[in-house]
Amino acid sequence: MTVIEKYKEMIDNELEKLFAPSDSLPQKRLIEAMNYSLTAGGKRLRPILVLLFSKAAGGSVEKALPLACALEMLHTYSLIHDDLPCMDNDELRRGKPSNHKVFGEAGAILAGDALQAEAFGIILRSEIPFEARVACAEALAAAAGVDGICGGQQLDLEGEERELSEDEISFLQSAKTASLFVAACKIGAIAAGADEKKLEAACLYGASLGAAFQIRDDMLDEISSEAELGKTIGKDKREGKKTFMTLFGGEK
Ligand code: IPE
Ligand code: IPE
Ligand code: MG
Ligand code: MG
Ligand code: MG
Repeated sequence: MTVIEKYKEMIDNELEKLFAPSDSLPQKRLIEAMNYSLTAGGKRLRPILVLLFSKAAGGSVEKALPLACALEMLHTYSLIHDDLPCMDNDELRRGKPSNHKVFGEAGAILAGDALQAEAFGIILRSEIPFEARVACAEALAAAAGVDGICGGQQLDLEGEERELSEDEISFLQSAKTASLFVAACKIGAIAAGADEKKLEAACLYGASLGAAFQIRDDMLDEISSEAELGKTIGKDKREGKKTFMTLFGGEK
């Protein structure tokens, strides 16, 4: 078993426990919807990065595990909302019907909202020093907000209606996707008490990997298969999305 496989197993096990179905709670349907998408699979890249960077900066993988789960919860929220009919209108995610296909649009919106809030809760309750908790929450907020996922998604949707410049496409990609990779690497390093120089290196790594990752995701939307990706193929072109594929073509 590789380190990455080992970390993925730790993360999968932890995520399964977080929102286990509970018949006795009045809001059980919300918990079921959160659990549905969180445990549907996924490569767990962002939480794996948290653990790898914590380890690399000399910290404990166990203490970083709740922070890793927080990254995956925020990511899963972004996918649930990304699939909504008013956003990308996708019916397949992680090889299963999208959250709103099972729980309805309102159910999917609430499941996403709750996953985002609980992600911050997990960070603020974690066992790392108080100042590190605050720094992790700040890093996650930066990835989620105006300069992060929401800002990027705004441009992504505008791109369906109008041409975007190369700068705009670069912004949308780094904001909607790379920002969370930056947060993952940074949070892992913060958990380990890394100094400023190491934090900077972690952020640069996350930004570069995240940029490459979204370019590849946009390529796979054209060249991969539904069976391999677990999501609908060819959607970007049909929706008129502006990506590096539309800007430069696949070869370049
Ligand atoms: C999908 O992310 C959304 C993008 C930013 C392209 P992933 O490809 O990491 O999705 P999962 O978590 O493995 O399902
Ligand atoms: C997703 O970009 C970015 C998010 C913040 C969720 P995409 O819309 O390309 O992701 P997929 O292809 O649906 O996973
Ligand atoms: Mg999208
Ligand atoms: Mg999408
Ligand atoms: Mg895509």
